[in-house]
Amino acid sequence: RLILIGGPPGSGKGTQSPIIKDEYCLCHLATGDMLRAAVAGKTPLGIKAKEAMDKGDLVSDDLVVGIIDEAIKRPSCQKGFILDGFPRTVVQAEKLDDMLAKQGTKIDKVLNFAIDDAILEERITGRWIHPSSGRTYHTKFNPPKVPGVDDVSGEPLIQRKDDTAEVLKSRLESFHRQTEPVIDYYRKKSIVAQLHAEKSPKEVTIEVQKVLS
Ligand code: AP5
Ligand code: ZN
Repeated sequence: RLILIGGPPGSGKGTQSPIIKDEYCLCHLATGDMLRAAVAGKTPLGIKAKEAMDKGDLVSDDLVVGIIDEAIKRPSCQKGFILDGFPRTVVQAEKLDDMLAKQGTKIDKVLNFAIDDAILEERITGRWIHPSSGRTYHTKFNPPKVPGVDDVSGEPLIQRKDDTAEVLKSRLESFHRQTEPVIDYYRKKSIVAQLHAEKSPKEVTIEVQKVLS
């Protein structure tokens, strides 16, 4: 099974993905998370990606296609996967189709997390994350029991460097210009399901379950 989650920054991709992953035993592959880990580890990939990420621009197609190509071949991902934040350009979508064709598979569903831009600034600027587990909190919509501390591990939470109102503007600009055409690419294949991402996290989960059942 192969599911793709698309939507603007803050639309809830990273919040819903772990739930789908657990329910269907899929691998969760998020290019943003993989790139942030590379930046934190100062790997050659991270060094190349950092500047674009800090500005809210997209990283080059070659770099992200390379990490996805490697990830989808992992033995642990052979039951299927959820792609979160990839593909983000039509070139990436075409390359993904080629990679999957080589493995004899194709995408089953594209979940489009549709939401109005106006809601996103509050979601992004209030987000706190626990980097090692990927757990995400929000000061207003999903606060941790103790401010700044992960509920499970007791470890400190951090904010993403690109989660400012200023950088969000560039991220949204990249989304509308480069990533929205990807949805049209999949609409032509009739595999897009439209979700109401402005609803509460629980309501969004129910919509996702309906689409995937
Ligand atoms: P990436 O990490 O993919 O960031 P993004 O697309 O900007 O998406 P976010 O992670 O910000 O949003 P999300 O939808 O996951 O929101 P979340 O669920 O956390 O990419 C980062 C950067 O990496 C890019 O800018 C680019 O430079 C690079 N990159 C990555 N992939 C690339 C690619 N393929 N090609 C080129 N470059 C690439 O939710 C947000 C907040 O809202 C949280 O606090 C959450 O608690 C809260 N929340 C979630 N759902 C709800 C709800 N229903 N109601 C209320 N609050 C909610
Ligand atoms: Zn995310």
